[in-house]
Amino acid sequence: MKKVTLIPGDGIGFEISQSLEKVFKAAKVPIEFEKENAGTTVYEKTGELIPESLYKSVEKNKIAIKGPITTPIGKGFRSINVYLRKKYDLYSNFRPSRTLPGIKTRYDNINLVIFRENTEGLYIGEEKYEDDKKNVAVAIKRITKKGSYRIIKNAFEYAKKNNIDKVTVVHKANILKLTDGMFLNTAREISQEAGYENIKLEEVIIDNMCMQLVTNPEKYKVIVTMNLYGDILSDLVAGLVGGLGVAPGANIGDDIAIFEAVHGSAPDIAGQNKANPLAILLSGVEMLRYLKMDEFSTKIENAILKTLESGVKTADLGGNATTSEFTQKIIENL
Ligand code: NAI
Ligand code: MG
Repeated sequence: MKKVTLIPGDGIGFEISQSLEKVFKAAKVPIEFEKENAGTTVYEKTGELIPESLYKSVEKNKIAIKGPITTPIGKGFRSINVYLRKKYDLYSNFRPSRTLPGIKTRYDNINLVIFRENTEGLYIGEEKYEDDKKNVAVAIKRITKKGSYRIIKNAFEYAKKNNIDKVTVVHKANILKLTDGMFLNTAREISQEAGYENIKLEEVIIDNMCMQLVTNPEKYKVIVTMNLYGDILSDLVAGLVGGLGVAPGANIGDDIAIFEAVHGSAPDIAGQNKANPLAILLSGVEMLRYLKMDEFSTKIENAILKTLESGVKTADLGGNATTSEFTQKIIENL
């Protein structure tokens, strides 16, 4: 049995991870979850936001799946998500989005993946005032050749593996000539590497990309971009396919991968059996693909699609199924 660390999280995290456990069990996935939690519930008990045992488990299993974690405000804590990304150098933020049946959206045929660079760019936290009066502030955007190379390489490898003939690099190199220029040039170089003869590199400037994505999202399959642009674009596309309640994601490094529901802990509906478990379930499907357990990823994905096709959905999507009813229906459809 493959062991995977399961971090339930806070708020609706408990309900949605229970749904994940039930579906995996019913599908007879050969995975044993090792449960380790982090966040406010753990903090209240132990005074620690992330227990040592969680790190140990992640480092041993190399793979984890997590629910949303509340970052306590005003206690000087940094986001746990950001912390884990840094600690394990999870440089690739992987955000797939696809049109799902039974969910009312503007477009019928979206199926794309965004690779967002997760460790550098404008999010390195280097900000300072330039004057004593604190009337001028600057933030540093750091782009490295190495950081650009590995994320763009990821995107090309993904395209190749999935027989996709185009990778779209998103940038603003016309203005940011050194930083975005380096990212763009790296993409051009990688596109010339052996093995990518059948993959075209498409270059799109970020502002145009926003317009393209809300008018012609079906045209895109694999998008690769820097940290800030990727943060924004991935939520934009999630909105096009039904919102954060259905958005799976992962933070992937060379050694360790953490799959996650993208949404927060939804304190307004926590504990009420109303949460939509789709984001964590679809993250689970992606995790099974990553683990090359394709038989199980396909089985669970098909059961989810069948359930949505039959019109069963949770309240956030306009349905009236509870978390447990929706989960049960998926299990029946396995
Ligand atoms: P949120 O995503 O928790 O909620 C925003 C709205 O979406 C709420 O109305 C909520 O009910 C709804 N919603 C979210 N997920 C849903 C689901 N699966 N099913 C049905 N409805 C859903 O964002 P908010 O309110 O900004 O953050 C709440 C807490 O979550 C904060 O403490 C924040 O720090 C944390 N958070 C954690 C994240 C993570 O661990 N990855 C990401 C974002 C926020
Ligand atoms: Mg974000």
